[in-house]
Amino acid sequence: MVERIAIIGAGPSGMAQLRAFEAAREGGAEIPEIVCFEKQSDWGGQWNYSWRTGIDQHGEPVHSSMYRNLWSNGPKEALEFADYSFDEHFGKPISSYPPRAVLWDYIAGRVEASDVRRFVRFNTIVRWTRETEDGFTVASENLTSGDTVTEQFDRIIVASGHFSFPNVPDFEGLENFTGEVMHAHDFRGAERLEGKRVLMIGASYSAEDIGMQAHKMGAELVTLSYRSHAMGFDWPDGVEELPLAIGFDGNRVTFRDGSVREVDAVVLCTGYLHKYPFLPDSLALSSPNNLYPDGLYKGTVWQQNPHLFYVGAQDQWFTFNMFDAQAWFVRDVILGRIELPDAEERAADIRHWLAEYAALPDHDSEVVYQANYIRDLIERTDYPMFDLDEVVRIFQAWQQDKQVDIARYRDKTYPSVMTGTMAAVHHTPWLEEMDDSIERYLTPVGHPASSSEHRDPRPGAHSARAKTLPRSGLVGRDGAAARV
Ligand SMILES: Cc1cc2nc3c(=O)[nH]c(=O)nc-3n(C[C@H](O)[C@H](O)[C@H](O)COP(=O)(O)OP(=O)(O)OC[C@H]3O[C@@H](n4cnc5c(N)ncnc54)[C@H](O)[C@@H]3O)c2cc1C
Ligand SMILES: NC(=O)c1ccc[n+]([C@@H]2O[C@H](COP(=O)([O-])OP(=O)(O)OC[C@H]3O[C@@H](n4cnc5c(N)ncnc54)[C@H](OP(=O)(O)O)[C@@H]3O)[C@@H](O)[C@H]2O)c1
Repeated sequence: MVERIAIIGAGPSGMAQLRAFEAAREGGAEIPEIVCFEKQSDWGGQWNYSWRTGIDQHGEPVHSSMYRNLWSNGPKEALEFADYSFDEHFGKPISSYPPRAVLWDYIAGRVEASDVRRFVRFNTIVRWTRETEDGFTVASENLTSGDTVTEQFDRIIVASGHFSFPNVPDFEGLENFTGEVMHAHDFRGAERLEGKRVLMIGASYSAEDIGMQAHKMGAELVTLSYRSHAMGFDWPDGVEELPLAIGFDGNRVTFRDGSVREVDAVVLCTGYLHKYPFLPDSLALSSPNNLYPDGLYKGTVWQQNPHLFYVGAQDQWFTFNMFDAQAWFVRDVILGRIELPDAEERAADIRHWLAEYAALPDHDSEVVYQANYIRDLIERTDYPMFDLDEVVRIFQAWQQDKQVDIARYRDKTYPSVMTGTMAAVHHTPWLEEMDDSIERYLTPVGHPASSSEHRDPRPGAHSARAKTLPRSGLVGRDGAAARV
């Protein structure tokens, strides 16, 4: 009988794990004692925005890499929970690309509704872990009181995320660069880039989105610089894409193709490291950011010690509903509902997924691969199956929208795969929307506060959460897109 479980991290993955156990308990199952360690004062992980950079008030590395004006970069219809829809949470259709605070409200709404906060020890960091004969010893510190505790657990679920420890390469001459240099992890807002010439190094989501944020906020020139492949979008005037920067001389940058630019600021959008300082190397995942980190059976069970699990360790096309699929699977292994095969069979399964991954030709096939992976997990649990093929089509349409207009794709809408509700068109196009607050976002069209003239957050705009706003009833399956 598994008696005690530690979940490390209460971001979306840890929250999914809490919800999975609670769903089993509500269904009449006996569940083990659960302790979820969360080093921050609230849950939500990356979505729990902090203005801080570098080191926090407790002397710990700041976890979140999100910035004030971050909006979802994929359609919300691709990440919706199968057991808690956007309709259920907001009570009215919302747009397909909500800002950070709106998604934070949504993920928190599900777990608040199921009262799992009682399992979480906030402001408590896991310091180290040791394998014992029949489980693990875990040492944690209450960051507020300074008290440390050492406890025994039968199982550990690592849900600490992998977009927090920046990958910071060096570039020749950068030490003499006269402007500002930062990693995307420390970027908090693009307002101060107005009128500046900015260089983004990297060719993935951070470079694309921080580059477009800088453009939106009036940067004079945004130069994106790629190592392997250009993103290749039809960039608006004022945004350009060049090969890799190879040298700095004062504020002059030389690129691999011989181009030269003078820039005022550099943002290293060079990704993140898998880093688990609270685990010994025998338990710590070591992997590039990819869709199938080696050493995890079904992407979750640590092959060398199947009493240790990871949730959310993959690179992510799918996010929240994939974490659910993983959390339900891990829960059922722990509850004994799913029997783990022996080590050799697990190894063969890992090899199978790795071989398929290695053969993928393009982004479209990566999305299909992750959809198949999620299907494989859900089929083994009682998590509600949803139309994964339809989500794949939404991802494909999203990529097409970005090809057509990288500055306007967030104005598009999609129907919910879970409820059929058509998303609403946001009252203000993303490029013109300067207020990212949840209050402004949920303000109905026609209200003076939803006018595009309205550019500043209202007084007290950050004091209330969405659930204090009136709910307006659900929209039927055939509901057409409406402005909200
Ligand atoms: C800049 C950025 C933008 C993103 N935008 C999107 C988006 O638009 N849409 C989308 O779907 N996804 C987005 N993502 C992906 C994001 O990774 C997931 O949405 C999600 O946050 C991952 O959840 P997680 O719980 O696995 O990790 P995290 O969200 O990172 O949460 C991990 C939690 O573990 C805690 N923790 C870590 N170490 C310890 C410890 N030792 N002890 C105790 N607690 C610990 C942390 O405090 C944190 O709360 C974005 C990621 C980044 C970096
Ligand atoms: N909501 C949003 O709008 C938003 C915004 C930002 C980020 N995100 C999320 O954040 C997560 C991380 O995205 P990310 O873009 O930070 O990381 P990422 O997807 O891992 O991409 C890292 C990039 O850095 C480049 N790189 C790494 N080392 C380099 C080096 N030495 N020199 C030059 N380039 C180098 C890589 O280039 P190669 O291809 O050559 O390896 C790649 O382009 C994703 O899940 C993403 O969805 C979301």
